[in-house]
Amino acid sequence: MPVLPAIQRVPEMQAWSERVRRRGERIVMVPTMGFLHEGHLSLVRAGRERGDRLVVSIFANPTQFAPSEDFESYPRDLERDVRLLAAEGVDLLFNPAAEDMYPRGYQTYVDVEAVSRPLCGVHRPGHFRGVATVVLKLFNIVRPHVAVFGLKDYQQVQVIRRMLLDLNLDVEIVACATVREPDGVAMSSRNRYLGAAEREAAACLQSALGKAEALVRGGETSAAKVRDAVVAEIRRQPLARLEYADLCDPDDLEPVSEIRGSTLLALCAWVGKARLIDNRVLGGSQP
Ligand code: PAJ
Repeated sequence: MPVLPAIQRVPEMQAWSERVRRRGERIVMVPTMGFLHEGHLSLVRAGRERGDRLVVSIFANPTQFAPSEDFESYPRDLERDVRLLAAEGVDLLFNPAAEDMYPRGYQTYVDVEAVSRPLCGVHRPGHFRGVATVVLKLFNIVRPHVAVFGLKDYQQVQVIRRMLLDLNLDVEIVACATVREPDGVAMSSRNRYLGAAEREAAACLQSALGKAEALVRGGETSAAKVRDAVVAEIRRQPLARLEYADLCDPDDLEPVSEIRGSTLLALCAWVGKARLIDNRVLGGSQP
């Protein structure tokens, strides 16, 4: 049985990283909230090739959930996660306690302004403030040279990129393609909230992205027309409720009205209790 060394305490994690850095080794980190699936494991595999030591963090971060959201019920299975990570040859698990990450009196947050506001930012106020804060804290604790993220959470990647630039952090970001189920549904820890009929309905996000791509390939340049087609496709599925479908600049996420060159189509829909997001870069390749 492969074993997976784990550290829970912040000073111990910092000391480990200090030792590794002194030896001149490169640290790669994959931040997660656990309940791992193939999407997470694809990041682990991508990270493996990019340095000498691979650290995965598992921390369900309370500050990125609003009080009304699913923090309490967010799925957790540490034993299974440990088995999966050990089998991937991960060097170290960092799984701190919430009290150590946010001790009494905690009051410092990172607000990455404009890029956090559209898309999920409209519907989850404070979410990216929590994400940016915890990612900066994890970077300060694990001190990675490289950190790997998934493009399923496209806006999250852009928020983190902006934070790194603005705060002069010397961490290289690797962004990996979305891993999907055979029917195209993006893998997500939240898919486990879906019943059988809902799980089938979830495929409407992927089919809406496909419709949009076909339109743009066919020469459509009006963002409004592409959006209308996406809305119509989601409406065909009675179990899905669209939260947003927006076309925007793939770097700063500003809305666009004309599709010229690469344009991000970002989608969010509720299916049952699950809030699902997906996206595709139209008219170009993913960054
Ligand atoms: P979590 O949702 O656990 O996701 C951890 C990482 O896995 C993120 O970079 C996410 O984009 C990536 N990921 C999730 N599903 C994926 C899929 N189907 N294909 C490829 N990558 C996928 O995102 C978070 O946690 C948190 O916000 C975190 C960054 C850890 C900060 O708390």
